[in-house]
Amino acid sequence: MNESRAIALQMCRFPAYLEAGLKARFDIIRWFELSEPEKAGVLRHHAKAVRAVVTGGHIGCADDLMMALPSLGIVAINGVGVDKVNLSLAQQRGVYVTTTPGVLTEDVADLAVGLLIGLLRGIPAADAYVRAGKWLTSERPLARKVSGRRFGIVGLGHIGSAIAARLMAFGPVAYTGPRQKPQAAYTFHGSAKDLAAASDVLVIACPANASTHHLIDVAVLDALGPEGYLVNVARGSVIDEPALITALDTGRIAGAALDVFENEPRVPAELIASPKVVLTPHVASATVETRMHMSEVVLANLDAFLSGRPPASAVVQGMLPFTSAATVQTRG
Ligand code: 8YV
Repeated sequence: MNESRAIALQMCRFPAYLEAGLKARFDIIRWFELSEPEKAGVLRHHAKAVRAVVTGGHIGCADDLMMALPSLGIVAINGVGVDKVNLSLAQQRGVYVTTTPGVLTEDVADLAVGLLIGLLRGIPAADAYVRAGKWLTSERPLARKVSGRRFGIVGLGHIGSAIAARLMAFGPVAYTGPRQKPQAAYTFHGSAKDLAAASDVLVIACPANASTHHLIDVAVLDALGPEGYLVNVARGSVIDEPALITALDTGRIAGAALDVFENEPRVPAELIASPKVVLTPHVASATVETRMHMSEVVLANLDAFLSGRPPASAVVQGMLPFTSAATVQTRG
């Protein structure tokens, strides 16, 4: 390690552009590739020199790790989800937490609509049918019509609004959220259950937090009903997954398209086996273009931090200004 450079812990794999940008700015420790004894060794020898944790929205930074890094100044998230970072702990510790707002909105909305159409029209199953040569000998069952359905959006933030704008081309849109948005041109329902009862397709686009944990429960699924479909591009924890599995198995809802899971990358065997679901591996923001924009925002946030300026997209304002002198002094 270069004694004059700060250390950053890298919590997951990133696109090559971001990995190169991180290496140009920090001594990088690839935390996700270390065994538990190796992690303990890093903390013993280098904890005081770690100034940054760079992570994905789905991974964040555990409380005990944040606590073990006395000189930590920034947790830079390559994404918008802050559910895996304890924001009040970061605030108390004076650690900046930054995200990449705006740049992934369109992609997530596009994937939500793609999943929705794929689910109702049975596109993945139709693709598998052609590849298996079944077209020569059998007919595909009819799918379900998308246009004219009633769409309910749970969470009308940036992503929910982008999904709503797209779905308006297909049918009426309504939403729920913590409060009605006077500027929104869509019907508001005061609860997820009321929205589900008034929707044919429920699309989850809200943040994961204490008030949305298992928001989509048995009651909401029953309100959606046997002809209803669920799409989730938010976080797995928003849905009570065992309740969803039961609802699918017993025909209490018609189907689900899921990009996110409670315990990803582990996906319940029942979902993998179900013909009523379309599954993608948390790829809503995973395009070349968007991942490049996200990388640029992460690097801009880190550059601001390194030069002692507040990062532009901080969701928690830190208190520890970066100085390289402090870094040298704090190396263990
Ligand atoms: C990414 C996400 O998959 O923005 C988020 O919160 O979950 C996704 O966009 C992830 O953060 C990539 O690192």
